[in-house]
Formats: sequence, structure tokens, C-alpha cells
Amino acid sequence: MKILLDERQVRAGVLRMAEAIGAEYGSRPLTVIAVMTGSVVLLADLIRLLAMPLRVGVLQASSYKGSTERGELIINADLMPDVTDHDVLVVDDIFDTGHTLTKVVARLRQLRPTSVRTSVLLRKAGRQEVAYEPDFVAFEIPDEFVVGYGLDYRDAYRNLPYIATLDEDDIASTLP
Ligand code: IMP
Ligand code: MG
Repeated sequence: MKILLDERQVRAGVLRMAEAIGAEYGSRPLTVIAVMTGSVVLLADLIRLLAMPLRVGVLQASSYKGSTERGELIINADLMPDVTDHDVLVVDDIFDTGHTLTKVVARLRQLRPTSVRTSVLLRKAGRQEVAYEPDFVAFEIPDEFVVGYGLDYRDAYRNLPYIATLDEDDIASTLP
């Protein structure tokens, strides 16, 4: 395992992103919707850096992957507050191909919010397969598999306070 972004760097990046979000919304009330489970650590840190009146909800996005085709994305929005006529900020861990966030945004727009913007901790360079781009990005990273600060490999490593890349040994030693 190799540290890509240490705790201090992550903290600084989240603070920069919070300042950009604050500049965008000012004191307008905000509904923050976190995409479970990878965004939990970012969610907890980010909302404590935001000063506007704020509500928090979560949704779950899971893909059922077939052998060759990209699986359908199932969105469970049961734990989400009413977003109609609210400014919504979606929080996710990483923007990789972009399919997850694009579908989440499309689903939220059907509920007629005032606005929908998105913020992610990481954006993987050169991986995107969609026209959509997140509004707020803390870090651009190279195309490597990363864990920590909410991001998992087989549900492990979410609790690491930094972002690390995995090597072969880490992959072999991770319990299924
Ligand atoms: P996308 O739909 O390809 O943008 O994928 C987004 C989701 O894939 C993220 O919310 C993560 O759960 C997962 N993911 C993509 N890249 C990584 C990674 O490097 N480490 C851990 N999870 C990742
Ligand atoms: Mg995820």
C-alpha cells in the first residue's frame, strides 16, 4: 500500500472544496445527499465545514454487473428527504467512469429540485465515459485503484484516514 494523499493533504483538499461550495451557495439552505457508502467519511468532514442551513440525506446506488455488459444501476432513495424545490448537493467519493453520478443526478432531477450540483473527493484522470462533469472536485488523481477515506476494496479499508493505492500483496491479503 502506498499513500497517495496523506491526512493533511486530504484535509486541505476538503477545506478548499467546502470554500468553493460556500462561495456558490452563500447562505442559501442546502440539501446534501450522500451516495452510500463510499461518501460517509467525506460527508462527515464536509458538512462540518459548511455554514449554511443544511439537511442531510442518503441514497444507495448499486450496480448489478453482468459478465460483459455494464450492469443496471439500482438507486434506493428511501432514506432521502423531500428534495422538490430544494437546492441539492450530491456528495460521492470518486468520479471514475462517471456513470454512477450521472444516473444519480438524472434520477434526482425527476424530483424537480431547484438545482442539483455534485461534489466528489476524487476524479480519476482520463476514465470518464460520460459528458457530465462534477461541479466540485477536491483532487484529480491518476488512473490507479485507491482506498481509504471511505473508498473500499471488497468493503475493506474505508476507515483509513488517508488515500492509498493498492498493490498486489494488499489485494491478495484482503478477505473477500
Ligand atoms: P463510476 O460510476 O465509474 O464513476 O464509479 C463510481 C464508483 O465506483 C465509486 O462511487 C466507487 O464506489 C467505485 N470506484 C471507482 N474507482 C474506485 C477506486 O479506485 N477505489 C474504490 N472504489 C472505486
Ligand atoms: Mg461508491
